[in-house]
Amino acid sequence: MPAHTNVMPLPEGAPATLREAFAHIGTVTAPTVLDIKIMALTEAAATTLYYKTAETAENPEVRALLERNGREEFLHAQRAALAVKAVSGEDFFPPLAEDNPYLQDGAGPIAPITKEALTGLAQGEFGGDALYQKWAENVGNEEAARLFLLNGKEETDHGNRLLQAAALLD
Ligand SMILES: [Fe+2]
Ligand SMILES: [Fe+2]
Repeated sequence: MPAHTNVMPLPEGAPATLREAFAHIGTVTAPTVLDIKIMALTEAAATTLYYKTAETAENPEVRALLERNGREEFLHAQRAALAVKAVSGEDFFPPLAEDNPYLQDGAGPIAPITKEALTGLAQGEFGGDALYQKWAENVGNEEAARLFLLNGKEETDHGNRLLQAAALLD
């Protein structure tokens, strides 16, 4: 992706790369506003990662399942951005792919289209549900907690779709 003039500046204190951002949010049990912004950016980036992965799938059903997960990741980014607003009062909007600071070095598929890789990715999604549940318990804001639980429930849907996709590769 070429450099773009409307790229969102990284929030101050945020990890420099997408990989580090994913690693960071996985360690957070009680999210700060910064953590929720990082979550919004990674969820928005996950849309692109899923679409890139879907492009490599030969099976149209597998492709559709991956695209559906990808679309929902952007919804998760929007909900995380609303949680920023709920917690801090600050307006925050998830960037489109070309404006996402975590996608400026390009983005590729998250995993090869194999049974093993998709099953592994499913475990990551189930872990995402567990993370959101923990965040909901500890964020100390009712509206943010509600938004996190909606996202978390859909991460389990994502995991189940990935298992469904893995089963199609038999
Ligand atoms: Fe998500
Ligand atoms: Fe997901």
